[in-house]
Amino acid sequence: MFKVGIITASDKGSRGEREDVSGREIVDLLRGLAEVASYLVVPDEKEVLSAQMIHMADSLGVDLILTTGGTGLSPRDVTPEATLAVIDRLVPGIPEAMRAASMRITDRAMLSRAVAGTRGRTLIINLPGSPKAVKECLTVVLPVLEHGLAILS
Ligand code: MTE
Repeated sequence: MFKVGIITASDKGSRGEREDVSGREIVDLLRGLAEVASYLVVPDEKEVLSAQMIHMADSLGVDLILTTGGTGLSPRDVTPEATLAVIDRLVPGIPEAMRAASMRITDRAMLSRAVAGTRGRTLIINLPGSPKAVKECLTVVLPVLEHGLAILS
């Protein structure tokens, strides 16, 4: 069992105007594999997102942070920038694999700017915002997650 932090980036979700189905989808997909140390719904604000990633990685010591949402082209989509601001090293193969697999499902996969990287001993992975995309992308990563986190720890 590894420790995971989940961050949903959603203006509407953070105001309670939209139910966070995508965050719950992540929790469901990780059942039995990970202990959820923290699960937050925050607005699409770069500084807020970065601060929560730093808190989860450095103070809570989670092995993995999964974000959902805010990876597209809307001016409010800043999750990749918030992630890039806090990681030490990029792990480009993860979003490459997610986009390659997702492109077989929808051309729109190319519109996600998701990134992945490490901060200390924590792996951070961006997932797109829809519950469908969360499932499709996390399914790609799950088979290698245990090995990747073991090397990082
Ligand atoms: N990836 C998968 N596997 N399945 C999807 O349905 N939707 C795409 C893309 N990636 C999608 C996907 C769409 S429509 C968008 S706009 C981008 O993710 C960005 O989504 P986000 O802004 O909610 O993060």
